[in-house]
Amino acid sequence: MSVRQPIVCVLGHVDHGKTSLLDAIRSTKVQSREAGQITQGIGASDVPIDVIKAFCGEKLLGEFKVNFTIPGILFIDTPGHEAFANLRRRGGGIADIAVLVIDANQGVQNQTVEAIEILKSRKTPFVVAFNKVDAFGGWIPVKTNSIAESLSRQRQDVNDYLDKKVYELVGRLYEYGFNAERFDRVTDFTRQLVIVPCSAKTREGLAELLLYVSGLAQKFLEKRLTVDEDAPARASILEVREEEGLGKTLDVVLYDGVLHLGDQIAFNTAVGPVASKVKALFKPKPLDEMRDPRQKFDPVQEAVAASGVKVACDRASEALAGSTFLEFKDEAGRTAALEELRSELGELEFERSDVTGAVLKADALGSLEAITGLLEKHGVAVRSASVGAPTKRDVLEASSVAQKDRFSGVLFSFNQPVDASVRELAEKEGVKVFDEKVIYHLVEGYERWVAEEKEKEKREAFSRLVLPAKVRVLEGFCFRVNDPCIFGVEVLAGRLRKGVGLLNENGAKVGELNSIQRDKEAVEEAKPGEKVAISVSGPTFGRQVRDKQALFADVPERDLEELETRYSQALNADERGLLGLLRRIKGMPPRNSVF
Ligand code: GTP
Ligand code: MG
Repeated sequence: MSVRQPIVCVLGHVDHGKTSLLDAIRSTKVQSREAGQITQGIGASDVPIDVIKAFCGEKLLGEFKVNFTIPGILFIDTPGHEAFANLRRRGGGIADIAVLVIDANQGVQNQTVEAIEILKSRKTPFVVAFNKVDAFGGWIPVKTNSIAESLSRQRQDVNDYLDKKVYELVGRLYEYGFNAERFDRVTDFTRQLVIVPCSAKTREGLAELLLYVSGLAQKFLEKRLTVDEDAPARASILEVREEEGLGKTLDVVLYDGVLHLGDQIAFNTAVGPVASKVKALFKPKPLDEMRDPRQKFDPVQEAVAASGVKVACDRASEALAGSTFLEFKDEAGRTAALEELRSELGELEFERSDVTGAVLKADALGSLEAITGLLEKHGVAVRSASVGAPTKRDVLEASSVAQKDRFSGVLFSFNQPVDASVRELAEKEGVKVFDEKVIYHLVEGYERWVAEEKEKEKREAFSRLVLPAKVRVLEGFCFRVNDPCIFGVEVLAGRLRKGVGLLNENGAKVGELNSIQRDKEAVEEAKPGEKVAISVSGPTFGRQVRDKQALFADVPERDLEELETRYSQALNADERGLLGLLRRIKGMPPRNSVF
C-alpha cells in the first residue's frame, strides 16, 4: 500500500487562464534546480512534492504545518467540460480535488456555472483560483509567489478593489450553496471554500494555491489516496484519439494500481463491454525532446497510478469515452470486470418507458452522466439516454411523449451531428430539438424555450379569456343617463376590457361595456388606479347604476375555471381574489368544494 498523488483537475470558463496557471507551475523546475522532474502524461503533469515545497518556500510551509506524505500532485488540464465529464468513476469523478479558475476581472461566466454544477453533482472538493489579479488598475507586480506578501505591498485602493471583487464572487458562490472565503480569512476548511487571488502571468499567489490544494488533499483525502500496487489497474477513458502511425488510441487517466504492457483489459463500447490487451503504452515526450513531431510519444513499460497514459489496444476505435477501463488477471477477473462494465453501462444508458420525459443523446458516457444529472437537478425528467447521434427512432420516442406533454417530449443532442432527415421528422412530429456543444446551454436553451412558450400560451389565453376586474362608479361623473349609459369609474383591481358584461355586487347583470375612454381617447383596457369613462348599454344611471357602486367584469364560468386551473400563477393576488368573489356572487360552488 502507498499514497498516490491526488488527481487535481483544473477547470473554468474559456480563457480564464487554466493552461497558463499550469504552465506557470510547470516552469518552476527551471527555477528550482534541486527539485525533481515534472513528468508529462496525457493531458496531465505530475508535479513532485519537493517542487511544490520549493515553490511555497520555508516561511509559508512553516505557517501551514502539514506533514506531507503525498508524493506530489497530478494536474489535469481540461479544455471544455466534456473532457472533465469523462474523467469519471462510479459515483463521482476521478478528480480528488479541482481548481476552479475564475478571471477576477470577469467573474463567474457560463462555463464557470457549468463547472460548479458538475463539481457539485460529483461532490468534488475544490479551491478557487481567482486569476489575473495583475490586470487590476494600479497593481504593482511583486517578485514573489506569495499573494499574501504581494498584497502587503499593494496600495490600499487596490486591496479594497480586490476585496470588492472577492465579495462579489462570494455572493455568486453562495447562490450555488457554497460558503466561500478569501484564503486568509477561512476559519474552517471542512465547510468553507477557499478563494486564492493569483496571477499566472506574474506568479503571485501560486504558492498559496499549491499549498492549499496539496494541504487539503493531504489533510482530508489520505484514505482515498491510498492505493494497492498489486490490485488490478483502474482508469477512466478521457478520449478516443486517432494518432498517426498508431491508429485509434485510448487516452486514459489511471487512478488505481499499475498498468503494464501486455495486461488484459476491458472497457465499454457501443455494443457493450469488451476485453482486450495492452499492445503499447505511451507518455508524451518532454517538450524539449520533441524534434520529430511525428514521434511525439515515448513508449513505456508500465504506468503507476495516478498518471495519464496513451494505450494502444485492439477494439480501441469502438471504446466509449467516459467508460471505466479495468485490468483483469484471470478468467474470474474477466467475468467480474465485464459484469461491472455492463452494470456501469446500464446505469448511464437507459430506457424507462414509464417516464414522461426527454430523449437524450450524447457523444460519450461522461457527458451522458453529467447531462442526465444536470437535467434532473433542473427538474427535467429523462426517459431515455444513450451514446450516439439522434435517430428517427429517437424522434418518434420523444413524439410519443410530446403528444401527452410537449414540454417533456423533447430531444437533447449533445456534441453529435443531427441529420437533416432527423430534423425534418422532428419538425413534422412537433418535437423540439436542442442541439448544443456546451452542456449548460442544453439546460439554458430548454428553460428559455419553456418560458417563451408558456408566455406565448399565456398571452394567447389572456387575449381570448375574459379577465376579472373590479371598478367603482365615481361620484358626480355621469355623462349620459342611458342609451348608452356613460359614466366615470376607477379601476380597483384586475384588468377592465371593452366587450365584457358588467355585474353588480349581487351578481345581477347591469349591461355590456361597449367602450372605454381615458383622457378623451378610446382605449382597449384600463388598469388599477386608472380613472376612465365607460359606455355601457342596458342600464339607466340612478337605477341599475349608482354613484360609488362597485361593478365587476362578468367572467364566464368556463373562463373562470381555466384561469384558476391553468393561469393562476400569471394572475396577481387581487385578481385571484376577484375570481373567488365572482364565484360567490355568481352562485358557483367554491373552487375547492368537495360537493
Ligand atoms: P481555454 O483552454 O481556451 O479554455 O483557456 P484557458 O483557461 O486555458 O486560458 P489560457 O491559459 O489559454 O489564457 C487565456 C488568455 O489569458 C491568454 O492570453 C493568457 O495570456 C491570459 N492570461 C492567463 N492568465 C493570466 C494572468 O494571470 N494575467 C493576465 N494578465 N493574463 C492572463
Ligand atoms: Mg487551456
